[in-house]
Amino acid sequence: MGDTKKTYYITTPIYYPSAKLHIGHTYCTSVADTIARFKRLAGYDVRFLTGSDEHGQKIQRAAEAQGITPLEYTTNIVNGFKALWEKMHISNDDFIRTTDERHEKVVQELFTKAYEKGDIYKAEYEGWYCTPCESFWTEQKLGENHTCPDCGRPVERVKEESYFFKLGKYTEQWLKFIEENPDFIQPESRRNEMIQFVKQGLEDLAVSRTSFDWGIKLPFDPKHVVYVWFDALVNYISALHPFDGDGELYKKFWPADLHLVGKEIVRFHTIIWPMMLMSLELPLPKKVFGHGWMIVDGTKMSKSLGNVIDPIPLIEIYGADSLRYYLLSEITLGNDGNFTLPNFVTKINADLSNDLGNLLNRTIAMIEKYHDGVITKTDDIDALDKEISSLAEQTVADFEAQMEAMELNKALKTVWAFIGRMNKYIDETMPWVLAKSSEDVDVLRLQSVMYHLAESLRIIAVLVSPVIPVGAPKIWEQLGLSGFEQVQLDDVRSWGAINTGTKVVKGEPIYPRFEIPEMVETVTVTEEVEETVDTSNVPPLKENITYDDFEKLDLRVAKVVSCEKVPKSKKLLKFVLDIGLEERTVLSGISQYYEPETMVGKKVIYLANLAPKKMMGIESYGMILSASDWEEHLEVTNIESLPAGSIVK
Ligand code: ME8
Ligand code: MG
Repeated sequence: MGDTKKTYYITTPIYYPSAKLHIGHTYCTSVADTIARFKRLAGYDVRFLTGSDEHGQKIQRAAEAQGITPLEYTTNIVNGFKALWEKMHISNDDFIRTTDERHEKVVQELFTKAYEKGDIYKAEYEGWYCTPCESFWTEQKLGENHTCPDCGRPVERVKEESYFFKLGKYTEQWLKFIEENPDFIQPESRRNEMIQFVKQGLEDLAVSRTSFDWGIKLPFDPKHVVYVWFDALVNYISALHPFDGDGELYKKFWPADLHLVGKEIVRFHTIIWPMMLMSLELPLPKKVFGHGWMIVDGTKMSKSLGNVIDPIPLIEIYGADSLRYYLLSEITLGNDGNFTLPNFVTKINADLSNDLGNLLNRTIAMIEKYHDGVITKTDDIDALDKEISSLAEQTVADFEAQMEAMELNKALKTVWAFIGRMNKYIDETMPWVLAKSSEDVDVLRLQSVMYHLAESLRIIAVLVSPVIPVGAPKIWEQLGLSGFEQVQLDDVRSWGAINTGTKVVKGEPIYPRFEIPEMVETVTVTEEVEETVDTSNVPPLKENITYDDFEKLDLRVAKVVSCEKVPKSKKLLKFVLDIGLEERTVLSGISQYYEPETMVGKKVIYLANLAPKKMMGIESYGMILSASDWEEHLEVTNIESLPAGSIVK
């Protein structure tokens, strides 16, 4: 008999084992896990993949510095990843390491295939090389008399050979694909950016290196190792063992339904990866969703900045459910999110301990006290009960639609609105008053109120299970139900599944209340691998200008007086700046990087004498300078987080 279940294949990025993971990574994996768990509930046959991206020069150097092999180095850190995912109750079906033999084999096979097709070719590029520093330099960057700008020693003219992938060849095919699949890149603002990027023209991509050897060797030219991104992206396919036996897993799950990735790596997943697949004549994934960043004090939390929050102590103190719930409910998928300890504790106290925890405690305690713990099934016996049972069914329907639309925080709001309604229902029905009466009508009414509370909690337990997988089964058990593992969304679509005679089981409160910490003691610095720049990504320098040219620029420090989104514009923020002499209105296309509120009071560098320009009906004076790398990381006030070579504009 064939398996007729619909399949769903979801992936997270594979993380670099260059440092400990922080709550930015935890966020990404928790979102993916919540979606995976929801899809399982909705009846899909789900495959959920995460893993580690272990090759490259950075890792090799870090291992050398510790006097161990790169594989020993990555294995230590990857064991930490796996322990973290276990602590977070991440339900991944597989964990791929790019050092797995299954992966290396597939990368070699696919690289060879693209090479044999003529999409990968060998070429030489020439440059200036400083042997002591092991760095390439362009002519323009050199010091006087052809010396290394870093150490001052003479450089040599060298040639390095590299294999190049013909990215540009697939431009038309890609544009057509994007047009025919408008949902492929999400959210939509990212899609427009990617289209712009491709339309500007793509250069062939260097996909091999000879300057280090910690990587996957080219089978036909083993002094080359595969470029880390060509290597890493293939994980989504190699994890499915495409060339083993009859490739059953691959046939079942490829193409992936969703690659969930951070916004700075959307470009790799929506341009390079699809073009690799086009060359290989393999099907493209169905969707790539770019989520936002966890930020601290308005800046991206990142290992190179050392401003990261370690999830482990949070899980140990507050529990995995609390962290998952906060991350999922606070942040709109696609936007950046903040984490502060007081906000976090306030939120979990209110929603988990108070709203959900108390509803359960009150319900179980009352059923014990009034009915010896036994539930009796009643139909809706008055208008209020009718309202509750239909609201429950509506809640399931809305929840499902919002989850399907990736509106995860909205879906949680929907469930919590129902939880709030049920707490109010207790206050309205006043069971303690009914319990004092021996009139038949009150006795029956009390039974019905208890039934409506218990049945609501049965439905709630299922709906919250993708996000709080530790607490949800406890709700189920306290209601006296069994078989939570097998429960499906279908089981809660309609009201009234709890049977008469079901006996509740009182338990501990599922979510304790915590003191709200006064101090924000969240910032921890983890040990760091030196960030080295992949120089093949740095754009070339522009022509020299004279001092007179520079003098023409009127650059000022300006203070942000106000900042708001420009209505109907995806990119523009409208700033009012205090520039000392006067206030200026200026538009800046950085809306996807900053929440407007976080900009007020900040100081920026401002080009005051750029001719005004009208955009979206607003006159914009001058320009705010920002800097960005080539992976969509942009900063206005904090350049510490950017690699050397980032462009100011
Ligand atoms: O990019 N907030 O790995 P990585 C939210 N190996 N997400 C964050 C974040 C933050 N502050 N910091 C990092 C790589 N992330 C590659 C991926 S996939 C074939 C190869 C997210 O360890 C980031 O956005 O640098 C990215 O999606 C993921 O963590 C992995 O980052
Ligand atoms: Mg990164």
